[in-house]
This record gives sequence, C-alpha cells and structure tokens, in this order.
Amino acid sequence: HRDRETCHVLVLVLCLSAAEDFDWTKNDRGSFYYGTFPAGFSWGAGSSAYQTEGAWDQDGKGLSIWDVFSHRKGKILQNDTGDSSCQGYYKIKEDISLMKELKLDHYRFSISWPRIMPTGIKSDHVNEKGIKYYDELIDNLLENKITPIATLYHWDLPQVLQEKYGGWQNISMVNYFNEFANLCFERFGNRVKYWITLNNPWSVAVEGYETGEHAPGLKLRGTGAYRAAHHMIKAHAKVWHTYDTKWRGKQKGLVGISLSGDWGEPVDISNQKDIEAAERYVQFYIGWFATPIFHGDYPQVMKDFIGRKSAQQGLGTSRLPTFSSQEKSYVKGTCDFLGIGHFTTRYITQKNYQSGHGSSSYFTDRDLAELVDPRWPDPGSEWLYSVPWGFRRLLNFVKAQYRNPMIYVTENGVSEKIMCTELCDDWRIQYYKDYTNEMLKAIKDGVNVRGYTAWSLLDKFEWDEGYSERFGLYYVDFRNKNKPRYPKASVQYYKRIISSNGFPNQREVRLVILNGYTDIRCK
Ligand code: NOJ
Repeated sequence: HRDRETCHVLVLVLCLSAAEDFDWTKNDRGSFYYGTFPAGFSWGAGSSAYQTEGAWDQDGKGLSIWDVFSHRKGKILQNDTGDSSCQGYYKIKEDISLMKELKLDHYRFSISWPRIMPTGIKSDHVNEKGIKYYDELIDNLLENKITPIATLYHWDLPQVLQEKYGGWQNISMVNYFNEFANLCFERFGNRVKYWITLNNPWSVAVEGYETGEHAPGLKLRGTGAYRAAHHMIKAHAKVWHTYDTKWRGKQKGLVGISLSGDWGEPVDISNQKDIEAAERYVQFYIGWFATPIFHGDYPQVMKDFIGRKSAQQGLGTSRLPTFSSQEKSYVKGTCDFLGIGHFTTRYITQKNYQSGHGSSSYFTDRDLAELVDPRWPDPGSEWLYSVPWGFRRLLNFVKAQYRNPMIYVTENGVSEKIMCTELCDDWRIQYYKDYTNEMLKAIKDGVNVRGYTAWSLLDKFEWDEGYSERFGLYYVDFRNKNKPRYPKASVQYYKRIISSNGFPNQREVRLVILNGYTDIRCK
C-alpha cells in the first residue's frame, strides 16, 4: 500500500515537473545538421484573405474592420489598402499552378468572414457567392493533391460587429464567431480537415486594442488587449467544442489555433533575473494563449505581475480577467494541434516599470527590456532579425510546457525592403535554410512538428506597412493592374528542400550506396 502511495506521489511529481523541464541554461547552437524530415512531413506555403484576395467590395462581400481602417488616411504606410492586393480572388488557378511548381503538400489560406456573412451575423444574410469562391479554391487544391489548411479568423472582423458591439471587447463575439465557424464546418468540412480558429490572437489583442497600430485601431492601454484576448480564448474554445460535438464524428478533421511567438533569450544565461525576465517575455507572448488552452488558466506569472500592478494602481481587481472554474475546464484541452507562427528572437533582461495612475500597459506589465544583437541580419522588416537558433529554443519550450503537442508551423519567413526589386533573394534562401534546419534539429530533440508553412506564397498587403514589406516566394508587381507573379530565387531553393525532404548529406548518400547499404542514416 505504502509502495503504491509512493508511486502515486512520484507520478504526480513527474507530471508536475514535466511542464517545467525546459533548460534555460543550455543553448547548444551546434552546426548545420544533415538529415531528412520524417516521412509524411508536410511542406506548404501560406496567405491570408485580406492580405491577398482583393475584391474588397465584390459579389456581395461586407466590410471588414481592415477595409475601414485602411481607408482612413494616415493609418497605413503610403495610405495603401487591400482593395485589390494580389487579386487572388480572381486567380485561383494561376496561384495553384505556382503551388504545383513548388510541389507543396499543403496550402494555408484564410476565409474572410464578411465575404460569406456580410454583417457577421448569420441570421442577417449568408452570401452564396462568397461560399462559391472558397468552394472553388478548396476543390482546385484537392484536385491538385494539395491539402487545404483553413484559418477562420485572420483579423478581418466584419465591421458591423465592431460598430455594434465593440468587436473583441465584447463577449458576444464568442457566439457570432461560433456561428460563422459552424457554417464553415457545415459547408467546407467535408473537404477541409485542418482548421485553425484564430490566427495570431496576440497581434489582434495588442496591436488592435492596445497600441491601435492595427484595425480596429483602439488604444485601450492596460486593459483592451487582456479583454480582447479573454474573449478570443473563449471563442476558440467554443468553436473547438462545436467541432468536437457536432462535426468530428462525420468529418474526422482537426481543430487548432495558430499562435505567434518571438523567442526571448536571457541576455545572461547565468543570471537568474534575466532567465525569469526571458520566461516572462515568452509567457506574455505565446503562454498567454497556450497556457489556458493546454492547462486551463493564464500563466501564473501573468496573474502575479498584472495582479500586483493593478493593486498598486489602486484597482480593486486585476486588469487581467479571470476564468471561472467551469470556464477553465471548458477551455482546457481544446487543441488538436498547435499552429506556431515564428519569425524572430530578442534578448531579454529585467527592467522595472513603475505603475503610476493611467500609465499601465501590456508592455510595462512585463517588467523587461528587449535587446537585439547588432550582428543579427535584418534584411527586411525593422523588427525581423534572423536568429535561427531561437526557433529551436521556442519549439523545445513548447514541447516542455504543453506536453509535446502536435505542431504545425503555420508561418515562418522573411521580408525584404521595397527598394529591392531583384529576384535574387539570397538572404531569404539563407533564412529558410537556417530556420528549417533548426526545425529539423528540434524534431531530433523530440519536438512533434508535423508540417511547415513558408510565409508567404506571394508578396502581399503587410498590414500597417502596406506593400512596403515583401514576404513572398513570388514577387508581385503591384503597379500592374493584373498583378503578375514572378518567382524569386528562393522558389527554386524551397522546392529543393521539399523534394529532398530536408538536407540529405550528398557525400554520405553516395558513400553508402557505393558500400551497398540500403538503410541510410545521414548524420
Ligand atoms: C504574422 C501575421 O499573421 C501575418 O499576417 C503577417 O504577414 C506576418 N506576421 C508577417 O508580419
């Protein structure tokens, strides 16, 4: 009996510590790793509706918050808009031929909510022409043996829901989003087996409702982001339950969420304060959403820091909303796979912020400072430094914290500055090479990564940066009304990674063949 008790205690200790076993003090950068990805690994590329479709007011589509935001002067660099963008709405066949050229296994796209529900509310109107567009896209992908991965929310909330209810500030979004998702399952779920509820809710919360750089452009500092996130987490969970109870039996698909997260590396890995600050950075980023979804509640460190700072401001309750115990168990475990969007890394060190009246914000709540190494390459966007080893660290962190979930990398890539109209994007080749190689190392570390999505297939509307930041494998000439696409050099390179499923060591392969071995293990 005693033995059994000890055993139970041991199991409990092991379970509790399983979430903690990420080792901050070891950062083994290693060298290039020759090897291939597991058989069946899925290679893809991605896009999103507002960034590529154009046709903003065609065939009965309603307005989204991005249509309205981008039409307001001064919100987007050079007052660019997504009105016509890549004209992807009219180019299904052409774009699928680009995917075929790359030999993609999957394509990640998003469904524009106001294109199929113009006001966002099902009982108002369902736009069959919008449905027809996605039907065609999905059918064409499948005919070409490309697996569709559909995102339900890539930031284009119907404007009516923003105006009437305040968008994600309002709990009613949970039901409206669920009705929209349910319609998508009903109409597309016989063919789409991979669903992503929300794309990068961190950005929606922080940039949409805290800093106001993104639509809807609200600056509700210190509260707006937390409230938006709270409602998005509940909305995600509700949609997962809807699929689980109503559709999974018939359709046999998977529902996940796509979270973005930069990696945060302690400036000094022998300094406990830096380690704690780096962990806070990651917890306030990816942990904010992943911890409720995998463990049922916000990260303890967010509850502690935001709670303490709220009290110092004289507030009766924390600015971070709370989940009831019922909500915790409803939200916990609502993820069949975890989508990870990752682009860059920061060095992190501890920095205290005083929480005076009215000066609170998500950023000061974290008590840290972000630094970069000036030697890191930054070929494109100002914020995007190429730090490949950070990717492996993040993936290992996710494995340790959330009990090794099934992961699909839903976004990874690099942009270029507008001046560069050449198609010889060697820095992008380098970025893809190094980042996918670090992903391979992470898989060897035991991280359960099943697929990779290069971001993005095409150059496209890059939110508040307009068309100035080009992430595409294909160059798009936006000045030409037809928006022609041209392959950059990285197309050939990515194609090669895909066709050899990684980085087989050519010399070893030859040697082994010479020696007559059939079972090749490249190290
Ligand atoms: C994440 C967003 O989801 C995507 O839409 C955007 O293009 C990339 N970040 C690059 O900034």
